Amino acid sequence: DASDIEKGTYPHYMLKEIDEQPLVLRKIIQKYQDENGALTIDENILTAMDEADRIYIIAAGTSYHAGLVGKQYIEKMANVPVEVHISSEFVYNTPLLSSKPLFIFISQSGETADSRAVLVSIKEMGYEALTITNVPGSTLSREADYTLLLHAGPEIAVASTKAYTAQIAVLAILAEVTAKAKGMNLDFNLVQELGIVANAMEVLCGSKEEYEEISRSFLSTTRNAFFIGRGMDYYVGLEGALKLKEISYIQAEGFAGGELKHGTIALIEEGTPIIALATQESVNLSIRGNVKEVVARGANPCIISMKGLQQEEDTFTTPEVHELLTPLVSVIPLQLISYYAALHRDCDVDKPRNLAKSVTVE
Ligand code: G6P
Repeated sequence: DASDIEKGTYPHYMLKEIDEQPLVLRKIIQKYQDENGALTIDENILTAMDEADRIYIIAAGTSYHAGLVGKQYIEKMANVPVEVHISSEFVYNTPLLSSKPLFIFISQSGETADSRAVLVSIKEMGYEALTITNVPGSTLSREADYTLLLHAGPEIAVASTKAYTAQIAVLAILAEVTAKAKGMNLDFNLVQELGIVANAMEVLCGSKEEYEEISRSFLSTTRNAFFIGRGMDYYVGLEGALKLKEISYIQAEGFAGGELKHGTIALIEEGTPIIALATQESVNLSIRGNVKEVVARGANPCIISMKGLQQEEDTFTTPEVHELLTPLVSVIPLQLISYYAALHRDCDVDKPRNLAKSVTVE
């Protein structure tokens, strides 16, 4: 049938969509470049970004995790304060809003009912909204004032992969162009750095056997798994845990390294898998301290580090990219590890039980 043709030679959409990420990233760079090669975004969006005294990112699931990374970009590059909210919570737990808020909705499908409920209510309050979505003409796109597209192509697998990296890339571009419009100078060239990321993604997608092996030895029989990281790595760990639980049904949680001692460490037993991310120089030593603490209690560690920060005991080291862009790279091993864990456990990778690609009920 038609879906077999679209899948090509891939056994699952998820694997195909993981592999598409370097291409999608290159396409995004191209779509957001002007004729001189500089990154560019619709003037009206830049005006809205410039006038806002605070940005509220609203999203659910994987898109929420992309929003957490996006907050770092907008705050660090463009110097605008950002709050990130889970859409279903925002509706009845609306925070005190600033005097000139701008709302950014992140939604792969553009149809998530929880996010739409927030959009409807903030429009009633008279505020402006920008939707970042993969689907032109989707409800969230039509009902917002502005739209930025992900250009990721259709994402069929329920577990989101290429939309997550596309969302992060578009948020980086939005932050960079906003910074430039505000007359701020960044000390790196985002187009160049994203190009380095696309190459790194390609290298990672070419190492599938290694991830298959890692997931076989760490995850084929376990009941639970924990992801730890600090800063950016913490956010990526949240996404890694979500991927793993969605498709392999392993109870998986992501934690901030520093929070381990406040509870989670009580769960560590002989052989508990801990997947640790070490891509941030400023917290490399602290996260390694956390790994030692869990190993001393019997945990089975899988350490994914970035080149330049690696140590002998690391399980896998990714190519080096700019420290703000590491989520685009470090998430790929986590996506692949989840994919193979689901395969080894005979789960339906593309259509996990109880989940829907797009949740159109509140
Ligand atoms: C569902 C999907 C998730 C997705 C979430 C938000 O739960 O299974 O993969 O992250 O909805 O979807 P959206 O389309 O708004 O990004």
